[in-house]
Amino acid sequence: MTNGLPVPVIVDCDTGVDDALALLFAVRHPGIDLRAVTCVAGNTDVDGVVRNTLTVLEQAGAPDVPVARGAERPLIEAPRSARHVHGHDGMGDLGLPAPRRAPAGVDAVTLLRREILASPRPVTLVPTAPLTNVALLLRTHPEVTRNIERIVFMGGAAGAGNATPVAEFNVWHDPEAAAILLTAGVPVTMYGLDVFTRVVVPGAEVRRLRASAEPGTRLAGDLLAHRPAHPGSRPGDPAEDDGGLGDAGALCAVADPEGLTTHRLPVEVSLAPGPARGQTVVDRRPRAGESELHEGVREQSLVDVALDVDVARYVSLYLATVERRPPA
Ligand code: BDR
Ligand code: CA
Repeated sequence: MTNGLPVPVIVDCDTGVDDALALLFAVRHPGIDLRAVTCVAGNTDVDGVVRNTLTVLEQAGAPDVPVARGAERPLIEAPRSARHVHGHDGMGDLGLPAPRRAPAGVDAVTLLRREILASPRPVTLVPTAPLTNVALLLRTHPEVTRNIERIVFMGGAAGAGNATPVAEFNVWHDPEAAAILLTAGVPVTMYGLDVFTRVVVPGAEVRRLRASAEPGTRLAGDLLAHRPAHPGSRPGDPAEDDGGLGDAGALCAVADPEGLTTHRLPVEVSLAPGPARGQTVVDRRPRAGESELHEGVREQSLVDVALDVDVARYVSLYLATVERRPPA
Protein backbone atom coordinates (compact mmCIF):
# COMPACT_ATOMS: atom_id res chain seq x y z
CA MET A 1 0.00 0.00 0.00
CA THR A 2 1.10 3.61 -0.57
CA ASN A 3 -0.93 6.25 1.31
CA GLY A 4 -3.46 3.53 2.10
CA LEU A 5 -4.01 2.75 -1.58
CA PRO A 6 -3.07 -0.52 -3.29
CA VAL A 7 -0.02 -0.42 -5.58
CA PRO A 8 -0.95 -0.61 -9.28
CA VAL A 9 0.98 -3.63 -10.63
CA ILE A 10 1.47 -5.21 -14.05
CA VAL A 11 3.11 -8.64 -14.24
CA ASP A 12 4.98 -9.76 -17.36
CA CYS A 13 5.44 -13.52 -17.08
CA ASP A 14 6.16 -16.90 -18.70
CA THR A 15 3.74 -19.04 -16.65
CA GLY A 16 5.48 -21.28 -15.55
CA VAL A 17 4.94 -23.04 -12.20
CA ASP A 18 6.42 -20.26 -10.07
CA ASP A 19 4.94 -17.49 -12.24
CA ALA A 20 1.58 -19.10 -11.41
CA LEU A 21 2.43 -18.88 -7.70
CA ALA A 22 3.23 -15.19 -8.26
CA LEU A 23 -0.11 -14.55 -10.01
CA LEU A 24 -2.07 -16.25 -7.23
CA PHE A 25 -0.39 -13.94 -4.73
CA ALA A 26 -0.84 -10.78 -6.82
CA VAL A 27 -4.55 -11.44 -7.24
CA ARG A 28 -5.14 -12.07 -3.56
CA HIS A 29 -2.96 -9.46 -1.83
CA PRO A 30 -5.08 -6.45 -0.78
CA GLY A 31 -2.11 -4.10 -1.24
CA ILE A 32 -1.75 -5.02 -4.93
CA ASP A 33 -4.04 -3.80 -7.69
CA LEU A 34 -3.23 -6.21 -10.55
CA ARG A 35 -4.11 -4.20 -13.66
CA ALA A 36 -2.86 -6.50 -16.44
CA VAL A 37 -0.73 -9.55 -17.17
CA THR A 38 1.41 -9.88 -20.29
CA CYS A 39 2.93 -13.09 -21.59
CA VAL A 40 6.27 -13.90 -23.20
CA ALA A 41 8.01 -17.07 -24.38
CA GLY A 42 10.32 -18.52 -21.74
CA ASN A 43 9.45 -21.52 -19.65
CA THR A 44 7.29 -22.73 -22.53
CA ASP A 45 6.07 -21.33 -25.88
CA VAL A 46 4.10 -18.10 -25.72
CA ASP A 47 0.74 -19.71 -26.59
CA GLY A 48 1.24 -22.14 -23.73
CA VAL A 49 2.11 -19.22 -21.45
CA VAL A 50 -1.11 -17.40 -22.44
CA ARG A 51 -3.21 -20.51 -21.82
CA ASN A 52 -1.59 -21.18 -18.44
CA THR A 53 -1.94 -17.54 -17.38
CA LEU A 54 -5.65 -17.39 -18.24
CA THR A 55 -6.30 -20.65 -16.41
CA VAL A 56 -4.45 -19.55 -13.27
CA LEU A 57 -6.33 -16.25 -13.13
CA GLU A 58 -9.63 -18.13 -13.41
CA GLN A 59 -8.65 -20.55 -10.65
CA ALA A 60 -7.56 -17.62 -8.50
CA GLY A 61 -10.95 -15.98 -8.91
CA ALA A 62 -9.74 -13.12 -11.14
CA PRO A 63 -11.12 -13.90 -14.60
CA ASP A 64 -11.35 -10.23 -15.65
CA VAL A 65 -7.70 -9.15 -15.45
CA PRO A 66 -6.63 -8.34 -19.04
CA VAL A 67 -4.05 -10.76 -20.48
CA ALA A 68 -2.10 -10.26 -23.72
CA ARG A 69 0.19 -12.42 -25.85
CA GLY A 70 3.69 -11.06 -26.40
CA ALA A 71 6.98 -12.01 -27.98
CA GLU A 72 7.33 -15.57 -29.18
CA ARG A 73 11.12 -15.49 -29.17
CA PRO A 74 13.98 -13.41 -27.77
CA LEU A 75 15.37 -10.37 -29.61
CA ILE A 76 18.41 -12.25 -30.96
CA GLU A 77 18.70 -15.66 -29.30
CA ALA A 78 16.78 -18.73 -30.41
CA PRO A 79 13.90 -19.71 -28.07
CA ARG A 80 14.95 -22.28 -25.45
CA SER A 81 12.20 -23.55 -23.15
CA ALA A 82 12.51 -24.82 -19.57
CA ARG A 83 10.00 -27.67 -19.96
CA HIS A 84 12.34 -30.03 -18.10
CA VAL A 85 11.65 -27.87 -15.00
CA HIS A 86 8.05 -26.78 -15.61
CA GLY A 87 6.58 -29.87 -17.30
CA HIS A 88 5.42 -30.40 -20.87
CA ASP A 89 2.61 -27.82 -20.53
CA GLY A 90 4.85 -25.41 -18.59
CA MET A 91 2.61 -25.82 -15.54
CA GLY A 92 3.83 -29.00 -13.96
CA ASP A 93 1.47 -31.18 -16.06
CA LEU A 94 -1.16 -30.82 -13.33
CA GLY A 95 -4.02 -31.46 -15.74
CA LEU A 96 -5.58 -28.02 -15.27
CA PRO A 97 -8.68 -27.16 -17.33
CA ALA A 98 -8.42 -25.08 -20.49
CA PRO A 99 -9.32 -21.41 -19.92
CA ARG A 100 -12.84 -20.23 -20.72
CA ARG A 101 -11.80 -16.93 -22.31
CA ALA A 102 -9.40 -15.73 -24.98
CA PRO A 103 -6.63 -13.16 -24.41
CA ALA A 104 -7.08 -9.46 -25.22
CA GLY A 105 -7.30 -8.55 -28.88
CA VAL A 106 -4.08 -6.52 -28.64
CA ASP A 107 -0.45 -7.60 -28.30
CA ALA A 108 1.48 -7.37 -25.03
CA VAL A 109 3.38 -4.19 -25.89
CA THR A 110 0.13 -2.40 -26.79
CA LEU A 111 -1.57 -3.57 -23.59
CA LEU A 112 1.42 -2.59 -21.47
CA ARG A 113 1.49 0.90 -22.96
CA ARG A 114 -2.26 1.34 -22.59
CA GLU A 115 -2.46 0.13 -18.98
CA ILE A 116 0.65 2.00 -17.83
CA LEU A 117 -0.49 5.32 -19.25
CA ALA A 118 -4.10 4.81 -18.11
CA SER A 119 -3.21 4.07 -14.50
CA PRO A 120 -4.24 6.85 -12.10
CA ARG A 121 -1.02 6.30 -10.13
CA PRO A 122 2.45 5.22 -11.33
CA VAL A 123 2.68 1.50 -12.02
CA THR A 124 5.10 -1.03 -10.55
CA LEU A 125 6.10 -3.35 -13.39
CA VAL A 126 7.07 -6.86 -12.30
CA PRO A 127 8.69 -9.01 -14.99
CA THR A 128 9.15 -12.62 -13.88
CA ALA A 129 10.34 -13.87 -17.27
CA PRO A 130 12.75 -13.10 -20.10
CA LEU A 131 12.66 -9.32 -20.66
CA THR A 132 11.72 -9.33 -24.36
CA ASN A 133 8.30 -7.68 -23.99
CA VAL A 134 9.67 -5.04 -21.65
CA ALA A 135 12.57 -4.20 -23.98
CA LEU A 136 10.21 -3.89 -26.95
CA LEU A 137 7.95 -1.64 -24.89
CA LEU A 138 10.80 0.63 -23.78
CA ARG A 139 12.14 0.97 -27.33
CA THR A 140 8.72 1.44 -28.98
CA HIS A 141 7.00 3.64 -26.39
CA PRO A 142 9.66 5.25 -24.17
CA GLU A 143 7.04 7.71 -22.89
CA VAL A 144 5.69 4.96 -20.60
CA THR A 145 8.51 5.61 -18.15
CA ARG A 146 6.74 8.76 -16.99
CA ASN A 147 4.09 6.58 -15.32
CA ILE A 148 6.32 3.73 -14.07
CA GLU A 149 7.13 3.96 -10.35
CA ARG A 150 9.75 1.22 -10.55
CA ILE A 151 10.54 -2.14 -12.11
CA VAL A 152 11.02 -5.13 -9.81
CA PHE A 153 12.30 -7.97 -11.96
CA MET A 154 13.06 -11.58 -11.19
CA GLY A 155 16.30 -12.26 -12.94
CA GLY A 156 20.04 -12.21 -12.71
CA ALA A 157 22.38 -13.16 -9.90
CA ALA A 158 25.20 -11.52 -8.02
CA GLY A 159 26.52 -15.01 -7.23
CA ALA A 160 26.03 -18.31 -9.05
CA GLY A 161 23.72 -18.71 -12.04
CA ASN A 162 21.37 -21.56 -12.95
CA ALA A 163 21.14 -21.64 -16.76
CA THR A 164 24.96 -21.44 -16.87
CA PRO A 165 27.46 -21.30 -14.00
CA VAL A 166 27.10 -17.51 -14.00
CA ALA A 167 23.83 -16.66 -15.84
CA GLU A 168 20.27 -16.84 -14.53
CA PHE A 169 17.61 -18.22 -16.94
CA ASN A 170 15.53 -15.06 -17.58
CA VAL A 171 18.58 -12.93 -18.38
CA TRP A 172 20.39 -15.72 -20.25
CA HIS A 173 17.29 -16.33 -22.40
CA ASP A 174 17.37 -12.75 -23.76
CA PRO A 175 20.48 -10.88 -22.60
CA GLU A 176 20.01 -7.90 -24.95
CA ALA A 177 16.50 -7.35 -23.58
CA ALA A 178 17.82 -7.44 -20.01
CA ALA A 179 20.47 -4.86 -20.92
CA ILE A 180 17.74 -2.56 -22.25
CA LEU A 181 15.73 -2.96 -19.04
CA LEU A 182 18.71 -1.98 -16.87
CA THR A 183 19.02 1.32 -18.74
CA ALA A 184 15.28 2.11 -18.62
CA GLY A 185 15.84 5.31 -16.63
CA VAL A 186 13.45 4.26 -13.85
CA PRO A 187 14.33 2.71 -10.48
CA VAL A 188 15.03 -1.01 -10.92
CA THR A 189 15.11 -3.71 -8.24
CA MET A 190 16.82 -6.99 -9.12
CA TYR A 191 15.20 -9.94 -7.33
CA GLY A 192 17.85 -12.42 -8.43
CA LEU A 193 18.88 -15.97 -7.60
CA ASP A 194 20.70 -14.75 -4.48
CA VAL A 195 17.30 -14.42 -2.78
CA PHE A 196 15.02 -16.32 -5.19
CA THR A 197 16.24 -19.78 -4.18
CA ARG A 198 16.06 -19.11 -0.45
CA VAL A 199 12.34 -18.54 0.06
CA VAL A 200 11.05 -22.05 0.69
CA VAL A 201 7.71 -23.25 2.08
CA PRO A 202 8.03 -26.22 4.49
CA GLY A 203 6.54 -29.51 3.31
CA ALA A 204 3.92 -29.59 6.09
CA GLU A 205 2.49 -26.27 4.83
CA VAL A 206 2.56 -27.49 1.23
CA ARG A 207 0.53 -30.55 2.25
CA ARG A 208 -1.95 -28.37 4.14
CA LEU A 209 -2.51 -26.18 1.08
CA ARG A 210 -3.00 -29.23 -1.13
CA ALA A 211 -5.75 -30.49 1.17
CA SER A 212 -7.74 -27.24 0.88
CA ALA A 213 -11.23 -27.28 -0.59
CA GLU A 214 -10.67 -23.82 -2.11
CA PRO A 215 -9.36 -24.12 -5.71
CA GLY A 216 -6.82 -21.26 -5.63
CA THR A 217 -5.30 -22.40 -2.33
CA ARG A 218 -5.18 -26.02 -3.51
CA LEU A 219 -3.53 -24.94 -6.75
CA ALA A 220 -0.83 -23.08 -4.79
CA GLY A 221 -0.13 -26.33 -2.87
CA ASP A 222 0.00 -28.42 -6.04
CA LEU A 223 2.35 -25.93 -7.69
CA LEU A 224 4.64 -25.82 -4.66
CA ALA A 225 4.73 -29.62 -4.61
CA HIS A 226 6.09 -29.42 -8.15
CA ARG A 227 8.94 -27.14 -7.08
CA PRO A 228 11.41 -29.22 -5.07
CA ALA A 229 13.35 -26.64 -3.13
CA HIS A 230 16.51 -28.65 -2.68
CA PRO A 231 17.51 -30.26 -5.98
CA GLY A 232 20.02 -32.57 -4.28
CA SER A 233 17.51 -34.09 -1.81
CA ARG A 234 16.62 -37.77 -1.83
CA PRO A 235 13.30 -39.54 -1.08
CA GLY A 236 12.93 -39.70 2.69
CA ASP A 237 14.94 -36.52 3.36
CA PRO A 238 12.97 -34.39 5.87
CA ALA A 239 13.04 -31.39 3.49
CA GLU A 240 12.02 -33.42 0.44
CA ASP A 241 8.50 -31.98 0.28
CA ASP A 242 9.50 -28.32 0.69
CA GLY A 243 8.50 -26.02 -2.18
CA GLY A 244 10.29 -22.89 -3.39
CA LEU A 245 8.21 -19.72 -3.92
CA GLY A 246 10.42 -18.71 -6.85
CA ASP A 247 8.95 -15.79 -8.83
CA ALA A 248 6.29 -15.25 -6.15
CA GLY A 249 9.02 -13.83 -3.93
CA ALA A 250 9.30 -10.82 -6.26
CA LEU A 251 5.61 -10.06 -5.65
CA CYS A 252 6.16 -10.43 -1.90
CA ALA A 253 8.91 -7.81 -2.30
CA VAL A 254 6.39 -5.42 -3.88
CA ALA A 255 3.78 -6.00 -1.18
CA ASP A 256 6.31 -5.93 1.68
CA PRO A 257 9.58 -4.22 0.65
CA GLU A 258 10.83 -4.25 4.27
CA GLY A 259 11.43 -7.99 4.01
CA LEU A 260 14.12 -7.50 1.38
CA THR A 261 17.65 -6.11 1.87
CA THR A 262 18.90 -4.34 -1.24
CA HIS A 263 22.12 -2.55 -2.09
CA ARG A 264 22.34 0.10 -4.84
CA LEU A 265 25.12 -1.23 -7.06
CA PRO A 266 26.36 -0.94 -10.65
CA VAL A 267 25.03 -3.85 -12.75
CA GLU A 268 25.84 -4.74 -16.33
CA VAL A 269 24.73 -7.68 -18.49
CA SER A 270 27.52 -9.56 -20.23
CA LEU A 271 26.56 -9.63 -23.93
CA ALA A 272 29.74 -11.09 -25.42
CA PRO A 273 29.50 -14.63 -26.83
CA GLY A 274 31.10 -17.23 -24.59
CA PRO A 275 30.80 -18.63 -21.10
CA ALA A 276 29.83 -15.34 -19.41
CA ARG A 277 27.00 -14.40 -21.82
CA GLY A 278 23.90 -13.50 -19.85
CA GLN A 279 25.74 -12.93 -16.57
CA THR A 280 24.64 -9.91 -14.52
CA VAL A 281 27.97 -8.47 -13.46
CA VAL A 282 27.31 -6.82 -10.08
CA ASP A 283 30.07 -4.54 -8.84
CA ARG A 284 30.33 -5.10 -5.09
CA ARG A 285 33.81 -3.68 -4.72
CA PRO A 286 34.13 -1.12 -1.92
CA ARG A 287 36.34 1.16 -4.06
CA ALA A 288 37.47 1.68 -7.65
CA GLY A 289 40.06 -0.76 -9.01
CA GLU A 290 42.86 -0.74 -11.54
CA SER A 291 40.45 -0.74 -14.48
CA GLU A 292 39.00 2.61 -13.37
CA LEU A 293 42.45 4.00 -12.54
CA HIS A 294 43.86 3.12 -15.96
CA GLU A 295 40.83 3.39 -18.23
CA GLY A 296 38.51 5.80 -16.42
CA VAL A 297 35.05 5.23 -14.96
CA ARG A 298 32.54 3.58 -17.32
CA GLU A 299 28.93 4.63 -17.15
CA GLN A 300 26.87 1.84 -15.57
CA SER A 301 23.29 1.53 -14.35
CA LEU A 302 22.71 1.56 -10.63
CA VAL A 303 20.29 -1.15 -9.55
CA ASP A 304 18.80 -2.04 -6.17
CA VAL A 305 20.18 -5.57 -5.93
CA ALA A 306 18.48 -7.89 -3.44
CA LEU A 307 21.18 -9.61 -1.40
CA ASP A 308 19.21 -10.82 1.62
CA VAL A 309 15.61 -11.74 2.40
CA ASP A 310 13.57 -12.42 5.53
CA VAL A 311 12.51 -15.92 4.55
CA ALA A 312 10.08 -16.58 7.43
CA ARG A 313 8.37 -13.23 6.82
CA TYR A 314 7.76 -13.90 3.10
CA VAL A 315 6.65 -17.50 3.64
CA SER A 316 4.15 -16.34 6.26
CA LEU A 317 2.99 -13.49 4.00
CA TYR A 318 2.56 -15.79 1.02
CA LEU A 319 0.57 -18.44 2.90
CA ALA A 320 -1.70 -15.91 4.59
CA THR A 321 -2.34 -14.14 1.29
CA VAL A 322 -3.29 -17.15 -0.79
CA GLU A 323 -5.39 -18.51 2.09
CA ARG A 324 -6.97 -15.07 2.57
CA ARG A 325 -6.25 -14.79 6.30
CA PRO A 326 -4.13 -12.33 8.38
CA PRO A 327 -0.37 -13.22 8.57
CA ALA A 328 0.55 -15.34 11.65
C1 BDR B 1 13.43 -18.09 -13.54
O1 BDR B 1 13.40 -18.99 -14.64
C2 BDR B 1 12.13 -19.55 -14.79
O2 BDR B 1 12.24 -20.92 -15.08
C3 BDR B 1 11.38 -19.28 -13.53
O3 BDR B 1 10.00 -19.12 -13.80
C4 BDR B 1 12.02 -18.01 -13.00
O4 BDR B 1 11.36 -16.87 -13.51
C5 BDR B 1 14.46 -18.57 -12.55
O5 BDR B 1 15.73 -18.58 -13.13
CA1 CA C 1 9.23 -17.07 -14.64
